[in-house]
Amino acid sequence: MNDSSPDRRDFTRREFLSTATAASAGLCLAASTLVAPSVANAQTQVARKRRFVLVGVGGRSRMYRDAVLKTYAQHCEMVGFCDTNEGRLNLAAAKARKMAGVDVPCYAAKDFDRMVQEQKADVVIVATTDAAHSDYIVRAMELGCDVLTEKPMTTDETKCRAIIDAQKKTGKSCRVTFNYRYSPARTQVKDLLMSGVIGDILSVDFHWMLDTFHGADYFRRWHGTKANSGGLMIHKSTHHFDLVNWWLSAVPVSVMATGKREFYTPAMAKRIGLQSHHERCLTCPEKAKCGFYLDITTHKEYAELYHAQEKYDGYFRDRCVFRPEIDIEDTMNVQVRYNTGVTMAYSLNAFNSWEGYQIVFNGTKGRLEHKMEELVAVNSKNSKPKREERDTTIRICPLRSAPYDVPVWKGQGMHAGGDDVMLDDLFLSEKKADKYLRAADHCAGAYSILVGAAANRSFISGETVKIADLVPGIPLPDYPAMPSPTDPLPMPARS
Ligand SMILES: NC(=O)c1ccc[n+]([C@@H]2O[C@H](COP(=O)([O-])OP(=O)(O)OC[C@H]3O[C@@H](n4cnc5c(N)ncnc54)[C@H](O)[C@@H]3O)[C@@H](O)[C@H]2O)c1
Repeated sequence: MNDSSPDRRDFTRREFLSTATAASAGLCLAASTLVAPSVANAQTQVARKRRFVLVGVGGRSRMYRDAVLKTYAQHCEMVGFCDTNEGRLNLAAAKARKMAGVDVPCYAAKDFDRMVQEQKADVVIVATTDAAHSDYIVRAMELGCDVLTEKPMTTDETKCRAIIDAQKKTGKSCRVTFNYRYSPARTQVKDLLMSGVIGDILSVDFHWMLDTFHGADYFRRWHGTKANSGGLMIHKSTHHFDLVNWWLSAVPVSVMATGKREFYTPAMAKRIGLQSHHERCLTCPEKAKCGFYLDITTHKEYAELYHAQEKYDGYFRDRCVFRPEIDIEDTMNVQVRYNTGVTMAYSLNAFNSWEGYQIVFNGTKGRLEHKMEELVAVNSKNSKPKREERDTTIRICPLRSAPYDVPVWKGQGMHAGGDDVMLDDLFLSEKKADKYLRAADHCAGAYSILVGAAANRSFISGETVKIADLVPGIPLPDYPAMPSPTDPLPMPARS
């Protein structure tokens, strides 16, 4: 990338200096800092653990809680939990005590500022519902903290602009934890594209499928309204749009899209033989015959995290997937143009027979075809929610010669081990060099959500939406160099 704007130079330098092994890493956030106990004795520097607070202690927060309290306890401390739900706060505190023997102070959401100040936090981890992210990101930076935020960074362009402005004003770092980049197969795709095996890329076809177990779950939970999640174009596709931006080392320029909801509707409840939609699974009079029934009382995790805590805020995790208040789409088609001239056709459907994706990169020397089937088990009784990558393929189809399959890089654990690689990157004090530059900053967070925000606008207007009209002047993220579109190409062989 070739942006030499002052903002970009300053930001890159700051990141560089804040990294413990800055000379080799180029990553953004040091998990611990070296603090000199006295100027006179600068030789005997001791490592000070970075002080983390966590806001939003729901399902996803466990990964961060356990990482800070256990896996990376040598490097970090958890010094505060914060949430709107008192019951989930108490549960998080009890788990911390049991797992690490640590009493983590708990704060109501209204006391966020007090938590940060009393606990002298260095870093705020944001894992609330999506629409609440921006308030915490902005406030944390204003209070002098760095931020690690779950995806999506935020849910619309107004909130995105507030984050970009706050980062510029405060100079603090906001890291978006795009774990998909770290999955071995997806890193391998980046490696192949960087190698130039298919030349420079001219277009992309990308299709993501959610099945009727995992896909339906978005319509049960808080994700079912745009006010909470920005819709699937933001909540879910932020992962996909970030992958494409990073795979291409490019940023989006304009978006044209259509979106509709035709599967998770009151009419569909009737078409599949129910009398009507209802409020929730727990009290549903037709639960015995509904194929979308979810029992949150028998699944240990759902029972303790959600069912037992309903009395505090009235949030039901098992709302009817056919209820009329849902206002997010289940069928979306998007066309994107990038600053490098690449064009993409993308789709997301939430009612498919299998879960996963197919992507094709069309390059000047051939084509890279990548497919991944995923298993995301919702309500696997009393077990942890399962997430596996399987049936993953990568095929190179060179111009005018035989296609071949490439053995796929593999890993173990959540998101095929990608989450663990990312956690090392987030919480270890010594950073490893990363030639793929997988650490994502607020600019990468912005460019990914703005494709969704533009698509949401285009759904309504039918017009092409320019990214710069939503939030102008976002610096370009750090992406690795890609094959040049001006390099000479080999003459394709005659048949
Ligand atoms: N990267 C991934 O693979 C991945 C996976 C799951 C979830 N996520 C993201 O993690 C975040 C949390 O999702 P989840 O599945 O844990 O949801 P969840 O419903 O289990 O938890 C959300 C928590 O936020 C709390 N909360 C809501 N509004 C709040 C506010 N204003 N202030 C403080 N706390 C508030 C809720 O009480 C709840 O405890 C979301 O942004 C989601 O998109 C990412």
